[in-house]
Amino acid sequence: MRFADKVVLVTGAGSGAGRAVARGFAREGAVVVAASRGREALEHTVKLIEAEGGRAAAVTADVTDSPDLARLVREIVTRFGRLDVAVNNAGIFVGGAVADLPEEDWARALHVNTTGVFLAMKHEIAAMRAQGSGVIVNVASNIGAHVRYPGLGAYAASKAAVSALTRTAALEEIRAGIRINAVSPGPLDTAMSLRPGESAADRAARLADALPIGRVGALDEITGTVLWLASDDAGFAVGLDLVIDGGASA
Ligand SMILES: NC(=O)c1ccc[n+]([C@@H]2O[C@H](COP(=O)([O-])OP(=O)(O)OC[C@H]3O[C@@H](n4cnc5c(N)ncnc54)[C@H](OP(=O)(O)O)[C@@H]3O)[C@@H](O)[C@H]2O)c1
Repeated sequence: MRFADKVVLVTGAGSGAGRAVARGFAREGAVVVAASRGREALEHTVKLIEAEGGRAAAVTADVTDSPDLARLVREIVTRFGRLDVAVNNAGIFVGGAVADLPEEDWARALHVNTTGVFLAMKHEIAAMRAQGSGVIVNVASNIGAHVRYPGLGAYAASKAAVSALTRTAALEEIRAGIRINAVSPGPLDTAMSLRPGESAADRAARLADALPIGRVGALDEITGTVLWLASDDAGFAVGLDLVIDGGASA
C-alpha cells in the first residue's frame, strides 16, 4: 500500500499500459483519476478498479488542449484536495519513412506525444508547486532516445523529446519538492505493438527473434516500474529515463 490515499492522475488510462498502471496504483491504495478522450473506455477502467475494491474517477481530457488540461487538474484539486502523482502516459503510434511521411502525421506525433506531455507537466507542476510536493512519471519509449528503427522517425523524435523534456523539468523542479522521471519501454503487450493485421501469436514469433529477451513486455512489468518510480522507494531518482525493453537497447 505504497500509495494509500494518494491522489494519482494517469493519462491514457482508457486502455493498454495506462489502464494497467491505473489499476496498479489503485491496488496500492491510491485514489486514481483516469483521463483520456474516450469516456466509455475510462468508465470501464473505473469499473475494473472498483471491482477490485479500489477508488477511481473518470475525467475526459485531450492532452493536446491546454485549457482542457487546466480544467482536469483544477477538477482533481477541487474534488480530491491535491495531486500527488501524475503519470503522463497518453500517446499515439505514427509510422512512415521520413521522405514519405505526410506532414500532418509528423505534426500529430509531435502534438500528442511531445506537446501533450509538455502541457500536462505545465499544469501538473503548477498544482504541485502550490502544495510543495509531487511526483511525475512520463511514458516515453525505447524507440527515441535509446534505439532507432527505420520507418519510425516521427515517433522516435516525439519520444526522444519526452526524454529531454523530462530531464530538464526534473532539474528545474526538484528543489520545489517535485520529482520527475521517465520510463522508456520496449514493445508491450498492448494493441500498439501489433503491426497492421498482426495477431498476438505473430508478434510473439517476431519478437522471439528480434528482442534479446525473446518476448513482449508484460503489463505488470511496466506497471511495476512506473509504481516504483512514483514511490518513495525511488526518492533519490531524479531525471531518469529508465529503459525497460528486454535488452533491445543493451
Ligand atoms: N505498447 C507499446 O509497445 C509501447 C512501447 C513503448 C512506449 N509505449 C507508450 O506507452 C504509452 C501507452 O501505450 P499503449 O500501448 O497503452 O497504447 P494505447 O492502448 O493505444 O493507449 C493510448 C492511450 O492514450 C490515449 N490518448 C491518445 N491520444 C490522446 C489525447 N490526445 N489526449 C488524451 N489521451 C489520449 C488513448 O485514449 P483516447 O484515444 O480515448 O484518448 C489511450 O487511452 C504511449 O505513450 C506509448 O507511446 C507503448
